[in-house]
Amino acid sequence: MAEWAIKTILFILPAYFANSVPVLLGGGQPLDAKLKFSDKRRLLGDGKTIRGFFAGVLAAMTVSAAEWLFLSGTGFDLYDSSLYLYVFAGFLLGMGTMTGDLVGSFIKRRQGIAQGKPSFLLDQLSFLLFALIFAYPVSSHLISLHSALLLFLLTYFVHTIANVIAHKLGLKKVPW
Ligand code: CTP
Ligand code: MG
Repeated sequence: MAEWAIKTILFILPAYFANSVPVLLGGGQPLDAKLKFSDKRRLLGDGKTIRGFFAGVLAAMTVSAAEWLFLSGTGFDLYDSSLYLYVFAGFLLGMGTMTGDLVGSFIKRRQGIAQGKPSFLLDQLSFLLFALIFAYPVSSHLISLHSALLLFLLTYFVHTIANVIAHKLGLKKVPW
């Protein structure tokens, strides 16, 4: 595989972890405090919790720190061997991922889609779009038209497969 493609995947890895960890560590108080929007539906729904949000951000920062450990000084070094830059990129990727996830749920509720029901594009891609936007200030050298295209295609397939596996393992009630 081309070096740019491998670097692109390493770059987005913290976001993937941020997006999947809440399924395992989430729960508790919903972020919207059960408030309703003017359409009488929940702002976000019970699927978006405070604990899930912060677990996602911390997961991304942890994965980024691990990448610093393994990638510094190699040909796949993403941020000039700087622990600060790795962790900051992880923070931005985590915040972007979890914010995009909230935006996706907000739009789903406005469309009348119940919590936990699938939405073809919003479930898979809103987190990625926001992760890329948030990370851009420190990761612009890793983001290009072809890397973004690769990530949107890859994310769609990884997300679909991961959810089927999580469903089969009994971690998720539904395979999406
Ligand atoms: N989760 C959480 N906090 C978050 C995001 C996710 O606790 N900020 C947990 C919840 O238990 C949620 C599960 O991870 O049910 C799966 O996440 P997701 O598929 O994003 O949420 P849904 O329950 O499908 O809700 P929605 O329809 O709003 O996407
Ligand atoms: Mg879901």
